[in-house]
Amino acid sequence: SVAPMLTKLQSDCATPLPVLLHVADSMSTDMHAGLAVDGGSDLKMILSYVDSLPTGNEKGLFYALDLGGTNFRVLRVQLGGKEERVIATEFEQVTIPEKLMFGTSEELFDFIASVLANFAQQEGGKFHLPPGRKREIGFTFSFPVKQTSIDSGILMKWTKGFAVSGTAGKDVVACLNEAMDRKGLDMRVSALVNDAVGTLAGARYWDDDVVVAVILGTGTNACYVERMDAIPKMQGKFSPSGRTIVNLEWGAFSKGLPLTVFDRDMDAASINPGEQIFEKTISGMYLGEIARRALLNMAEEGALFGESVPEKLSMPFILVTPHLSAMQQDNADDLQTVGSILYDVVGVESNLNSRKIVIEVCDTIVKRAGRLAGAGIVGILQKLGKDSKSAIFGKRTVVAMDGGLYERYPQCRRYIKEAVAELLGPETSQNIVIEHSKDGSGIGAALLAATNSQYDHDY
Ligand code: BG6
Ligand code: GLC
Repeated sequence: SVAPMLTKLQSDCATPLPVLLHVADSMSTDMHAGLAVDGGSDLKMILSYVDSLPTGNEKGLFYALDLGGTNFRVLRVQLGGKEERVIATEFEQVTIPEKLMFGTSEELFDFIASVLANFAQQEGGKFHLPPGRKREIGFTFSFPVKQTSIDSGILMKWTKGFAVSGTAGKDVVACLNEAMDRKGLDMRVSALVNDAVGTLAGARYWDDDVVVAVILGTGTNACYVERMDAIPKMQGKFSPSGRTIVNLEWGAFSKGLPLTVFDRDMDAASINPGEQIFEKTISGMYLGEIARRALLNMAEEGALFGESVPEKLSMPFILVTPHLSAMQQDNADDLQTVGSILYDVVGVESNLNSRKIVIEVCDTIVKRAGRLAGAGIVGILQKLGKDSKSAIFGKRTVVAMDGGLYERYPQCRRYIKEAVAELLGPETSQNIVIEHSKDGSGIGAALLAATNSQYDHDY
C-alpha cells in the first residue's frame, strides 16, 4: 500500500532543526573557503565588481536586459535622481523559446538583440541623448559568469537545463555586442550582473537595510554585501566604499542535504549530473519532477491510482512546479482542483484518497525546499554576523527575494520564514525582514548601468 511509501518519503526529506543547523553552518563555512581562494569550495563566491550601490542620485535613460531561466525581458527605465526617482519604466517580456536553449550561441544572442532592437525602436523620438552618447544597457545574465570587470565576464558553464553551444568560456558581453552589430544596433553594455546581484541593487535603491538577495525561481542563487578586507582572494584590491557584492552561486552547494532516490535518479538523468545539487533540491525547475518521480513509484509499487499506472506519469518533466502549487491551494473538501490537474496533466481519474496522498507528496517536496532555502539564508547571515564589525544581528536586516517559486508558491514562502525563525530564535528573527522584490533585477541592472556609465555627466 501507499502509506508506508509516503512515510518513507517524508522521513527521507525531513529537515529537523539539526539538519537545518548543519546546512546553515556548512553554507557559512563554504562561503569562507570560497572567499579565501578560487576553487576553495562548492561556492564560487564570484566577485561582482559592483562596489558602489545605487544612491538614489542616478539620472537619465537606461536600458536593461534580463535573461533569467524561463523569461527574457527588456526594459527602458527613466531615472530622475533624488527627487523624482524612477520616473517611468516600460518593458516587454517573452518566454525564451525552448529550441534556443539547445541551439548555438549566435542564435541565442541574435534573439536577444532582435527583441532589444524592436523594443528600442518603439522609443520613437521621445528621448534626446546628447550628441555622440550611446544608449547604455544593464545586462542581467542569470548564469555563472566569471566577471573580469563590471562590464565583461566569461560564462563558466550553463545551468538550469541550458545547453547552448559555443558560449562557455566566452565573454557574454562580447557575444551580445557581436549580435548587436549584426543588427546594426549601436548601444553599449555598461554593467553585466547576475540576477541576484541586480535584485540586491534594485532593492537597496529603496531600502538601505538590504544586504542579501536570494533568487528562488527556475534556478536559485544568493548574493550579499561583503567587506573588501574579508575577501582574501581580492588581494588588496581597492573599492572606494570598502565593500562589494559577492555572488555565491549557491545552487552548487551540496553539503548535508537530505536527498532521496528520486533526487539521485533525477540528477543522474540530467544534462549536468553531480552539479547544482542544492539547486536541484530547492528550485522551481526541479520540484515538479521530483514529485513526479515519487508519484510514479507510488503508482507502480503501491497502486496509488489503482491497478494501472498512468502512462503519462512516465514522461520526465510533465508535472511542473506551478501544478504542485495549484494543487496545494485547493481547499475544497473533494479536492476537485487536484483531481482535474491530475486528469489534465497525466490523464488519470483519482479518488479522494489518492488526491490526499498527492498533496502530501507535493507538500513534502516543497517543505524540504523552503526549509533548506531558509537554512541557506541563515548561513549567510551567520557569516555576516561572525565577521562583520557592524554586526548585523540586533538591527533590521533585509533579505530581498525574487523568482517564480517564491512569488507563486505561498507554502514555500511560509516554510522559508518558519525555518529562519526556528534557526535564529524569536528575538533575532524579529529583525530579519524577508521581502519580495518583484522584478527588481531589471531596475537594479539599469541603476548599475547608470552608476557605471562611461559618460561623465548626467543629462
Ligand atoms: C525575475 C527577475 O523576477 O525573476 C529575473 O527579474 C530572475 O532577473 C527571475 O532571473 C527568476 O525567476 P524565474 O522564476 O523566472 O526563474
Ligand atoms: C542558476 C544560475 C545563477 C542564477 C540562478 C537564479 O543557479 O547559475 O547564476 O542566479 O540560477 O536564476
